[in-house]
Amino acid sequence: MKFRVRPVRALAGEAEVPGDKSVSHRAALLGALAEGVSEVQGFLEAEDCLRTIAAVQALGAEVTRKGPGHYRIAGAGLRGLSEPADVVDCGNSGTAARLLCGVLAGQPFWTMLTGDASMRRRPMGRIAEPLRRMGATIVGRAEGTRLPLAIRGTATPKAIEYATPVASAQIKSAVLLAGLGADGPVTVIEPAPSRDHSERMLRRFGARLTTGARTVTLTPGPLRATSVVVPGDISSAAFLLVAGAIVGEARVTLHKVGVNPTRTGILEVLEAMGARIASAAAADEGEPTASLTVTGGALRATEIGGARLIPRLIDEVPILAVAAAVAPGVTVVRDATELRVKESDRIAAIARELGKMGARIEERPDGMAITGGGRLHGAAVHSGGDHRMAMSLAVAALVADGETVIEDTDCVNTSFPQFTKTINDLAGIPVITVEA
Ligand code: S3P
Repeated sequence: MKFRVRPVRALAGEAEVPGDKSVSHRAALLGALAEGVSEVQGFLEAEDCLRTIAAVQALGAEVTRKGPGHYRIAGAGLRGLSEPADVVDCGNSGTAARLLCGVLAGQPFWTMLTGDASMRRRPMGRIAEPLRRMGATIVGRAEGTRLPLAIRGTATPKAIEYATPVASAQIKSAVLLAGLGADGPVTVIEPAPSRDHSERMLRRFGARLTTGARTVTLTPGPLRATSVVVPGDISSAAFLLVAGAIVGEARVTLHKVGVNPTRTGILEVLEAMGARIASAAAADEGEPTASLTVTGGALRATEIGGARLIPRLIDEVPILAVAAAVAPGVTVVRDATELRVKESDRIAAIARELGKMGARIEERPDGMAITGGGRLHGAAVHSGGDHRMAMSLAVAALVADGETVIEDTDCVNTSFPQFTKTINDLAGIPVITVEA
């Protein structure tokens, strides 16, 4: 599939973004581990999270779809899951693969996990190491650090205190999930705070947690079923916010966007760049939400770096690079080496693909320097199979001179299947056409 994108003068209207990907994965996993029946509303029905649903079903949890985004999960309890009959395929999803490993470290049977070509290149040693310390056996490619992996957990993992070298919610969550059945409290210490969706949702399911600025301690114990309302995904909203900020005549309101402070780095950076974004607080059912209204206008360059900011916007760097490419001045992104091990090497991909559209981007080991303010031009570009690259390039194409063709855009279905419809509705005309 490819996108053919024409430039647009105006974007106007209101939209709801799809459910949060991180929160949806966690709802499926905790629902499966809980005792009783959980109800999940607003679940992200995109490939990544449907992989997690399929995985928990393969492990013996009963999942019923009641309507769009509405799932009923009959949990098996911490000790009620069973050995899957086949390999579990996590597709493109790092969160599915890594959080599942955490769950499986507490299960006394073998599970084989694999993923797509991108996922099989991504590092798994970062979760295998603490989970082995907790007593799990994990074997696989590259000395047990790449998918496919086989995992045999233990019914009573060993309690550990783990200082993770990377601020990663996936590592933190894997250890906490393994810790639910451990023989004592499990502590994770991070170099900087990462997203805290696991902590919030574990509490909602009745887990006992104490948290500090960079530490979390979980006291083992059963989970009890609950209801979960998944907020809109700020990482998906980010594409529409930047589109609204850079398309001259734009006024776009996005409803029910999750504004958990561990995720809102994008809003702070866009504001520092001069974007006009108004926020009106909305419901908070475990995760705060807001309606965000963005109005188009001139942007300026900024600095994006620091251990406390980068984890709060790590998935938004590709779309922030688009904003930086049209903002006069030099925007520097630093401390973001993690971008190299996402769905693609995003530092290389941003420099290469936005470069084809005329952006001036110097690649650096831990980020990039973007000299913005010049005109972008239409070009033939490639997503590299990375959903966030595909959507970032599409937004860049909205303000480029001429037409852009983006190859390999099926990946958008991993997180935001309604992306083209949402943009076209806001444009009032079909600016993005999907071709085979
Ligand atoms: C996620 C954590 C982040 C993020 C990913 C989702 C999660 O990864 O990039 O898209 O749901 O926990 P890391 O934990 O590896 O930083």
